[in-house]
Amino acid sequence: MAGVSRRDLLSSGLAFSVSSLVARSAWGRQAMRLAAAPGPGTDGASAAIAPRQRLLFDFDWKFQFGHGTDPARDLGLGSGQGDFAKTGDFKFAKAGFDDSKWRTLSLPHDWAVELPFVRDEALNSHGFKPLGRRYPETSVGWYRREFEIPASDLGRRITVEFDGAFRSVLVFVNGCFIGRNDHGYTPFRFDLTDFLAYGAKNYIVVRVDASFGDGWFYEGAGIYRHVWLTKTDVLHLAKWESVVRSEISGRDATLNLGTVVMNEGIEPENARVLWQIFDSDRGLICGNISQPQIIEPQSSVNFIANGLKLNNPKLWSVELPTLYTAEVSIEVGGKRSDAELVQFGIRTAHFDADKGFFLNGKPLKIQGTCNHQDHAGVGAALPDRLQWFRLGVLREMGSNAVRTSHNMPTPEWVEACDRMGMMMMCETRQMSSSPEGMAQLEAMVKCYRNSPSIILWSVGNEEWQLQNEMAEEGAKIAATMVRRCHELDPTRVVSAAVNGPNDMGVSAALDIIGFNYKLQYPDDFHKKNPQRPIYGSETASAVSTRGVYSTDKLRNTVSAYDVNNPGWGEQAEEWWKFYATREWAAGGFAWTGFDYRGEPTPYGWPSVNSQFGIVDMCGFPKDTFYYYKAWWGKEPVLHLFPHWNFAGREGDEIPVWVHSNLDQVELLLNGKSLGIQKVPRLGHVEWKVKYEPGVIEARGSKDGKLVLTGKRETTGPAVAIRLTADRMELNADGRDVAMVTVEALDKEGRTVPTASNLIGFKVAGEGALLGVGNGDPNCQESDKEPKRSLFNGLAQLIVQSTRKAGEIHIEAVKEGRDGPELTPARLVIVIRKVDLQPAAG
Ligand code: GAL
Repeated sequence: MAGVSRRDLLSSGLAFSVSSLVARSAWGRQAMRLAAAPGPGTDGASAAIAPRQRLLFDFDWKFQFGHGTDPARDLGLGSGQGDFAKTGDFKFAKAGFDDSKWRTLSLPHDWAVELPFVRDEALNSHGFKPLGRRYPETSVGWYRREFEIPASDLGRRITVEFDGAFRSVLVFVNGCFIGRNDHGYTPFRFDLTDFLAYGAKNYIVVRVDASFGDGWFYEGAGIYRHVWLTKTDVLHLAKWESVVRSEISGRDATLNLGTVVMNEGIEPENARVLWQIFDSDRGLICGNISQPQIIEPQSSVNFIANGLKLNNPKLWSVELPTLYTAEVSIEVGGKRSDAELVQFGIRTAHFDADKGFFLNGKPLKIQGTCNHQDHAGVGAALPDRLQWFRLGVLREMGSNAVRTSHNMPTPEWVEACDRMGMMMMCETRQMSSSPEGMAQLEAMVKCYRNSPSIILWSVGNEEWQLQNEMAEEGAKIAATMVRRCHELDPTRVVSAAVNGPNDMGVSAALDIIGFNYKLQYPDDFHKKNPQRPIYGSETASAVSTRGVYSTDKLRNTVSAYDVNNPGWGEQAEEWWKFYATREWAAGGFAWTGFDYRGEPTPYGWPSVNSQFGIVDMCGFPKDTFYYYKAWWGKEPVLHLFPHWNFAGREGDEIPVWVHSNLDQVELLLNGKSLGIQKVPRLGHVEWKVKYEPGVIEARGSKDGKLVLTGKRETTGPAVAIRLTADRMELNADGRDVAMVTVEALDKEGRTVPTASNLIGFKVAGEGALLGVGNGDPNCQESDKEPKRSLFNGLAQLIVQSTRKAGEIHIEAVKEGRDGPELTPARLVIVIRKVDLQPAAG
């Protein structure tokens, strides 16, 4: 089917210029502003426009713990064996149930992060939070909410959509059991149409049971992603079926479009589909109107429009992530019955067995990190803006890719990657061709296949059985999964993260070969399999503690020089030198960008999080960050460490390192040169310096010219606190956050890199404290209380706006009676009025 002209579209009576169309909706106004100021924008892979409504269902929930073994403390559920026998019997999901003593909260919510740490070795991998069958009091949570459905909604289809919850979910509405879901990381939804009271109050109750975990890392507990209430006509676009594929030839592109229309009504409908393609300035550039097709009741029909031409499109790239929007609408008898906006990008991504990875035909090494999804202060329940903050930290390091280890990511992470130009390896949780495994995989591929950031799918990580003892089954399971990915998305290659030689099991089925660690294998594999593209699916696992310069097994710290890695891993310099110097290797993903809760390697209790991160739990860089920045980034880098506060160690030899990409570096102590060293390519320079207080300075030059200097000064004791926010203006939407850095200063205003003062916070006005952290892997202070110790000079405070314009006033004061006084710090953040994302009432 050929494309139609702009004039045809306009004369169809359905077309609007997108600028007027989106401007009319709150989403549109927000989207336009956000195009200018990067940050969270739409609500995931596809956004809703009239007549469809997609209402945020995050606010004003009630919450209470249930019980994993005692029905009497679990709203009576499970008292007998007939709990689910009759529809409509659940009184807790009806009017009159008293939830007045339950706590009120907003989603996303993770109750695990609110729990105390418990010393129990079995809880090690999940970060010592009391979850699991042995902790029934804290493993089950109940969420309840009243909501209005107007009488005018009668006749529409109404669906509740969860972006993800951890983990076993039971949903009840108006006394009826609606359904269950066990996936943990994949979205799920239930059609509520028949169960709702129209023009009346309704009640939804969600029981979440986190007794069974999925991973060997912190996973959180509760409804930790967004919930939506979606309302459509009975004739509507099927979920995740609108697909835009592009083919580039020369300077032009061809778009192939597809969607599925469902008729849930009782009459046949004669419908056509209209596609309109808008550029990033929201200008209509082309479109297509399909031939009408009859859609019988309770059935669906595919609509396809191939061959739409785009002249000289702007490509999506890491430097300039241009996005286009397809507006897909259904039209019956001149009326729109449903519509959605699908964001997509035009680009090619190609893995070559000899030359590595190519984006848009140009070679590009993958400079990636693997990441889990939790952050200091909030656990797994991240506000959208925090996804952008985290990607910003990784971008600053020169990274161009992330791997969503080991699960389907939240839509906001993917959207932020699309909009920031961060490539992604998108991984499913379970490597299995069971119905459960396939359902997880299909949800992931369908949901995100329009996202240009995704350059490869991963069907799993380190499945020992399937790689070894069960190699034959592994090959079959992986083949089924890869085949399904190809069916749903013929445009992308499929891989898995394999720890081993990749010579049996799942590897046979993969399009491209991922090696986890084990640098002894890729060369040999490449020789034997010269036609198979290779990359490092997981590398490094180097460990370091931010701001600590000696390994201390009694204090559970690891020195921040790049010298420590567990037996199975590599240091940063080792793995990157390996992949950077082999043309055929596509690059790789370091384990990990951010520290994460759980898997507290290399020590156990009292460590509560991993030390693998290149940045800590808050996103504060460790020194190795600058190694990557030097060799991944494009700007000159000179990073000198350690700090120069070693009182009591006068005369001791201190290793002094500089990460730099300049030609050479001179080091000076108190003005006296300690020599010049050439910086080896992909390496660093180091000296041993006898400690004396004062100033240590590095001067880096290139082509004989001084380019950068860096110095560390011995500071005095802390006398004052400083607060710095990443953003001084937030949206009054009840969701936006500012990341506030807390530091201690000496009397000359220099930051004190060793300060560990306990600081208290007061947050007043139109905002609330969402969480605190300091990046210390051994800190067991609360993430939620309004106080935190500095860890090597730093702490982080996350504040969230309310839905009212005004100001947030933050005050930081010294807590407790010990230690010298500190001058308090104050900060005012402006909360400005914005059009709100439409929300459920
Ligand atoms: C890998 C595994 C990761 C993490 C890492 C720690 O083998 O895939 O999830 O456990 O080791 O080094």
